[in-house]
Amino acid sequence: MKLAIFSTQAYDVQYFEHIHATKFTSKFDITFHPIRLTADTALLAKDATAVCVFVNDALGPDLLRLLHGYGVRAVLLRCCGYNGVDLKAAEDLGMLVANVPGYSPESIAEFAVAQIQTLNRKTHRAFNRVREGNFSLNGLVGFALYGRTVGLVGTGRIGVACARILHGFGCRLLAYDPYPSEAFKQYGEFTDLDTLLSQSDIVSLHCPLMPSTKHIVNEKFLNTMKKGAMLVNTSRGGLIETEAVIAALKTKQLGSLALDVYEGEESLFYGDHSGEVIGDDLLMRLLTFPNALVCGHQAFLTEESLQEIAETTLQTMDDFVEGRPCQHALTKVPVKS
Ligand code: NAI
Repeated sequence: MKLAIFSTQAYDVQYFEHIHATKFTSKFDITFHPIRLTADTALLAKDATAVCVFVNDALGPDLLRLLHGYGVRAVLLRCCGYNGVDLKAAEDLGMLVANVPGYSPESIAEFAVAQIQTLNRKTHRAFNRVREGNFSLNGLVGFALYGRTVGLVGTGRIGVACARILHGFGCRLLAYDPYPSEAFKQYGEFTDLDTLLSQSDIVSLHCPLMPSTKHIVNEKFLNTMKKGAMLVNTSRGGLIETEAVIAALKTKQLGSLALDVYEGEESLFYGDHSGEVIGDDLLMRLLTFPNALVCGHQAFLTEESLQEIAETTLQTMDDFVEGRPCQHALTKVPVKS
């Protein structure tokens, strides 16, 4: 049974090979492809039972049909978000699509808090200054998290993990979620979105990208925020209308911005473009702000996450080929008898 894994980095190969050998007796024929899965590269998946893709691979109806024609019957997403795959088209073709919904939420939450504290206490700037022999502290003033109000938009696995950490810092926690989670209630209180925005010193996004949440952060959202507050996005780039945050940073309505994700990331993130002229003017403008911190979608990147991702993905492959129900199926396909 062949599995073609696309968009692979060295760490993917390392963890998949290890888990495949130790937990699945190397039973599959796995090929690793560093390139993205597109119409031009789909031939590499010919005769594979399944393809495994990552967060920025886009699988629309045409590509799914092409893969189906090559014999592919399952799309295994080694990530949580599945906005890049047309689930209806896959289901119509009888293809399984499955994701890895719950890998180490603490890893993402801890990274969000790391971004908050880096941006707040300016350790990234201090690091560079000290290496240059500049020990001036001017411009490095931060604030204590203790007693500050943090607003969490989304209280799923990651939002709640974030709440637990920030509760430990002594923050007051507010949350907005159309489906409020019981687990959050021990850390803070649910409010409507406007109340959260107007009272929070830090707003952190932990909701998925869907048609209803696309550009949820727009001019109105930013103007409702407390003046000078911090915005953090470790969820999905499309939640933010980038032009609006740039305008808000320029007027100082938005005090600071931490991003691990960016709406136009597909063409840049996970690759080395240091020798190229980058044509994305919005991203390049964002990088000029001293009070903006941009990372390349790395919140998930821990040993724990990589291990869980490889394990869950290979378990889904195993269940699929053995005709067992797949726990993380996103499409309804008949199980083989
Ligand atoms: P989850 O599914 O456990 O929780 C999402 C929560 O958002 C749910 O409670 C849901 O009710 C809520 N929600 C839905 N619409 C909302 C809205 N309009 N306003 C406020 N809340 C809303 O998801 P989880 O595991 O907590 O992940 C959250 C997001 O984090 C994912 O959707 C994904 O986009 C992102 N993520 C980012 C990673 C990274 O490396 N930067 C890694 C993994 C996930």
